[in-house]
Amino acid sequence: MLPEGFLLNGGIDMLHDKLPGRNDPCWCGSGRKYKSCHAQTDQRMAALAAQGHLVPERKLLKTPAQIEKIRQSAKINVAVLDEIGRQIHEGMATSEIDRIVYDMTTAMGGIPAPLNYKGYPYSVCTSVNDQVCHGFPSEKVILRDGDIVNVDCSTILDGYFSDSSRMYCIGQVSEEKRKLVEVTRECVELGLQEVKPWGFLGDMSQAVHDHAKKHGYSVVKEIGGHGVGLEFHEDPFVSYTGVRGTDMVLVPGMIFTIEPMVNMGTDAVCTHIDNDWEIFTADGKPSAQWELMVLVTEDGYEVLSW
Ligand code: MF3
Ligand code: CO
Repeated sequence: MLPEGFLLNGGIDMLHDKLPGRNDPCWCGSGRKYKSCHAQTDQRMAALAAQGHLVPERKLLKTPAQIEKIRQSAKINVAVLDEIGRQIHEGMATSEIDRIVYDMTTAMGGIPAPLNYKGYPYSVCTSVNDQVCHGFPSEKVILRDGDIVNVDCSTILDGYFSDSSRMYCIGQVSEEKRKLVEVTRECVELGLQEVKPWGFLGDMSQAVHDHAKKHGYSVVKEIGGHGVGLEFHEDPFVSYTGVRGTDMVLVPGMIFTIEPMVNMGTDAVCTHIDNDWEIFTADGKPSAQWELMVLVTEDGYEVLSW
């Protein structure tokens, strides 16, 4: 532990910024005095950092005003995925999903975040069966009876980002695939239950991994979740094969995604040689993913997008 008053004396490199005086307005813009706003949080983070724990940089702690903007962005994201749920059907080309996402997002005042992101050429990712993620919507990809498909939607509204994805089952899906989809959803739910202030990202991560393993599934290691809100992808990298009690400390105001990719077979994946985007399972077996975006609150969590 640090000596009392350590924070007030400066020497707080781990927080990356100078702290306000106790009676000054808090850096978060709440309008409250620092001493009755983030002073305790900063002190607690500094103490944990001094013990060797990874604590978030201050820019990862969203202010109340930022959270409100991100909530508005997420409302579009949720509405678009709801609409996809109503419209998705056997015989539909995934390019049609792309069109719906673009039209609805822009009609609601947003921009699809994937479009032109690092050269990504579509408004949404549609990943079918053995596609793990980043599937390109295409008029050549027609949804067939028995397919499972992930639709991954992300929105920018006034510069604020939201991100979530859902699985859709087309027609009669085999018991095997349906179970993969269900268990993956349970993984996200169990991970979510671990999200609380002053817990660890690894608590969530291990809960996800344990549940997947219990059912004989594997979890993709090299692609994960991320902080989100002011940018599409912020720190931290969110693993779903981590260990309880390790990784970043969860602090109120952090927003990140829980989006494990759960494979029926091997966790090994490969990337499409032509476009360097689309990811497939190495063994051709199915993969499922659900994604939600969660805010760490003072007493637990709030799901912002799902
Ligand atoms: N939406 C994906 C995620 O969950 C990111 C896709 S990047 C894109 O992080 F460019 F492919 F859209
Ligand atoms: Co994401």
